[in-house]
Amino acid sequence: MKLYILNGPNLNMLGVREPEHYGNTTYQSLIEMIEAHARQRGIEVVCRQSNHEGALVDWIQEAYFEGADGIVINPGAYTHTSIALLDAVKSTKLPTVEVHISKVEEREAFRQISYIRAACVKTITGHGTAGYLEAIDFLISRKEASACR
Ligand code: DQA
Repeated sequence: MKLYILNGPNLNMLGVREPEHYGNTTYQSLIEMIEAHARQRGIEVVCRQSNHEGALVDWIQEAYFEGADGIVINPGAYTHTSIALLDAVKSTKLPTVEVHISKVEEREAFRQISYIRAACVKTITGHGTAGYLEAIDFLISRKEASACR
């Protein structure tokens, strides 16, 4: 099983940016945590981060063309603005989990809109960096359940 783990703008600044919302874990440590979790679960992960919307669109399409089984994405602020990311996920039909480190539903009004959510099979908010691991486990269970059917 292969999953793409995509992070949007400013998530490379984890550990530095607004620790009251995003905690103290750095992006590097997050990736190490995800890779260790993937090894333990016996799956492959491709981890990417970009501050550019088009790069994220390209990687969503790449996940499709590379035959990935699903996507975990934290689109950062593009969550609240990007129809391009919504369309990209829709076009791949890959099961996609939207992750937010902070509890976006308890923050500013502009963070209450998520365009990408309509194309996602699940949304996880406010679980800190553990949310990425939950998203991975969800996609693994979902695939196992569909294999049993
Ligand atoms: C975020 C929440 C977004 O509103 C914000 O723009 C981010 C991070 C989160 O992980 O909580 O960059 O997606």
